[in-house]
Parts: sequence; structure tokens; C-alpha cells
Amino acid sequence: MSSSVPLPPPYDRLKRHSLLPVPSHDDAARMNFLANMNVHVGAVLFPGVSASFEAKVKPAFEKEHGRAPESSVEVRDAMKPDPVFQAWSALRRHTQEARQQVGRAFVYRQIDGLVERSKAMNAGSNRLRLDSSVEVPRYVSAADNHVMPGSYYTEVVPDDISAPANYESGHFVTVAGGTGPKSDLVGRTMAAWLKETHPDFAPKRIVDFGAGGGFNTIPLAQAYPDAEVWAVDIAAPMLRYGHARAKEMGIENIIFQQADAESVEIEPGSADLVLSAMFFHETSTKAMNAILKQAHALLKPGGLMLHMEQPNFDPDTTPFEKFVRDWDCWYNAEPFWAKLHTMDVIEEMVSAGFDQADTFETSQPVDRHDPTYPEWCGSFSRHAHEAKMREGAEKPNPKKAGGMYMFGATKQA
Ligand SMILES: C[S@@+](CC[C@H](N)C(=O)[O-])C[C@H]1O[C@@H](n2cnc3c(N)ncnc32)[C@H](O)[C@@H]1O
Repeated sequence: MSSSVPLPPPYDRLKRHSLLPVPSHDDAARMNFLANMNVHVGAVLFPGVSASFEAKVKPAFEKEHGRAPESSVEVRDAMKPDPVFQAWSALRRHTQEARQQVGRAFVYRQIDGLVERSKAMNAGSNRLRLDSSVEVPRYVSAADNHVMPGSYYTEVVPDDISAPANYESGHFVTVAGGTGPKSDLVGRTMAAWLKETHPDFAPKRIVDFGAGGGFNTIPLAQAYPDAEVWAVDIAAPMLRYGHARAKEMGIENIIFQQADAESVEIEPGSADLVLSAMFFHETSTKAMNAILKQAHALLKPGGLMLHMEQPNFDPDTTPFEKFVRDWDCWYNAEPFWAKLHTMDVIEEMVSAGFDQADTFETSQPVDRHDPTYPEWCGSFSRHAHEAKMREGAEKPNPKKAGGMYMFGATKQA
């Protein structure tokens, strides 16, 4: 079967493990509906938003101002009254809210059993290191990122793991299964880049900042089984879940450490590799600088830093494309998202202590096809600009073309 519109894999392809709540038939049907709705909103409805901008909104703006809109904010303000944009944006927001509510409903129905199992699996381990004195930074507490009620850290019951159980249950829907049954595409892609570009690299200590439930830490731990991997996060629920999940998957070389990446107490100069996956966009300008400084301090001379993030804007990014890519900042509770798009990551790394000549931007092709998915499943982008970004079409900057964007640096030996 083939289709010009990508179809997401069925929800039952999400890899089962004993901390993942079991969806009822109706829960799974809702998740399937929402995953398909996401794809429909991105692939079928989005072209109407572009068309409305080109045919109506932009000409009206030009008539009024004598010029085209020049910034993301100007496009947004002009698009706000447009009914096509309103419908698309409301539907996109709705799929996100609904997936949170559906996930929470079946997580909370089973919370006692989930907590019991995680407690039993975590008991007595010296690889789960919680520290209740760690304060949640304001950039986390002030935003329920991607409309996730209570964020990553809220504890509704003692020893809570509801936030990560909901996160993993719903992430599959948000990305339409695009990160694979184990939600680990980013980690697998980072590991593949490391193996290809640094074949002799044999890190002994790896630190993953903002590791969450360790979904993307695990492929790195598997790629380097002799390394001691530190998964650092401020949120105890994520770490409890991550530790128990990794244990069930037979991963024994990750330490799940509750700490603030801005001031983590790991021996300075001891890490061969400091990395993060989808982390910086949930911090702030000040925190990003502090965290990059912390990475520099933690690395051994000659050590490597690697971060997967949203690519920043290029000089050729059009105001409309900026507006679309900034959508999450205004309508999906990602307050730092738009600012990050405008920042120069090379300058950020230099101001954190790295030598400019040792910094880099790069990208790595992602392996979207998972053999456990039916062959008719398609590759999903939330809108045309994300697809363009991923495919690298027409990008003058080859470092951002053709896959998953990353930036990093080596520390002077
Ligand atoms: C978008 S999630 C990414 C999780 C993980 N890297 C992944 O790929 O699944 C961001 C994570 O960063 C954590 N976080 C935010 N600020 C932090 C900080 N200053 N120090 C450590 N963790 C932080 C949050 O608790 C959350 O788990």
C-alpha cells in the first residue's frame, strides 16, 4: 500500500516494558486517532496555511505597509486573524493537549502498580542517585513544556513516575512514531555519528545533560559499553523511571544523577564526552551559557562535546518559515524555542571557553525505517519547513543539510 500522505505506525508498536502503562482498547484508539490527526494537520492541512499567507495575508500586509513582513513576529501578527491559520493552529494545539490528557488518564488509572514496580526495580541500586535538595530552575517550573501538566518534576504521589510514563506514552503520538518504538532515534543517530566520524573514540566517562528518562542515553551506553555514563536531570520522576527502564533493558553502565546541569558535581576534567539531546530549547539564554561552561569544565583536555538541537536560523530562512518554526514557542509552551533559533551556537560555545577553531556544526542522516513497523508507515514532519530542514533541501549551509542537526566542540588538548 502506498500513499502520498505518510501514515504513522500503529500505537501497539510502542515497545512494551513493565513501567509503561497498558492502554485499554479505547486508549489505544485515541492515541492512534491523535497520531493520524497530527500527520493530517502537518501533511494535509499545512499547505493551506502557506497558500493563505501567499494569496491573502502577505498581499494585504504589503498593501498596508508598502513592504513584505520582515520578521517571524510580523508574520504571526498578520496571520493571527486568518481563519485558515486559526483552524490549523488550534487543531495542532488540540492534538498536543489531547495526547497529554489521554496519556494521563491511563497513567493515573495504573499509578499504584507503576510506582510499586519502579520502587522494586530501583531498590538498593547505587546507580540511581536522587537528591531532594536540587532546585528546579525557573525556566522549567515557569513553563509546562509542550503543554505537559506539571512538567517533568511534579510528584503527585510519593515516588511518582507519572510524568515520564505519560511522556513516553504520548511522545510516540507527537512524533507519529518517528523516533522508533523505544523513542531513541536521537541517541541512535548521535551514536552513529560518533562511530562514523570518530571510529577510534573510546570514552570512559560520558555525561548526558537533561537526560530525562534516558531514552536517548541508552543507545550511547550501548555504543560504549565500557564507559560510565552519567544521565543528569533535575527531575526525580524521570530518573526513577529511566533507571528502572534501563535496568529492565539490561543496561548496567548508566548512573542516573539528580542534579542541575548548570552546577553538577562531577569531577572537573574527568569526562571524555559531554552531550545532550533536545535539551537546550527547554533552558534559557543564561542557563545555556552556564551549561556550556559546565561542559567545558567537565571535559578532559581533548574531550568532545556534542548536542542535538533545533538548528538556528540561516540568513536564507524566510520570515514565513521562521514564523512556522517558532510556532512551538507561542502555542506549545516552549518559551526559549524562538530565541534559540536566533542565537549563534558557535559564539555561545566560544563564550563558554571553547576555541572557535575547535567548534563545529554537523548533521547525520537518521534511520527512520524501523523493521518492527509495517512497510506502509511513512516518515512524518510536522510541517513543510521541518521536512525541508531534515532533508536539507536548498540549504546553503551543508552542515545543516540532510539529517539531524548537532553542534559541538573539542576541548583544547
Ligand atoms: C526535552 S527533555 C529531553 C530529555 C532527554 N534528553 C531525551 O532525549 O529524551 C528535557 C529534560 O531536561 C531536564 N532539565 C531541564 N533543565 C535542566 C537542568 N538545568 N539540569 C538538568 N536537567 C534539566 C528536564 O527535567 C527534562 O527531563
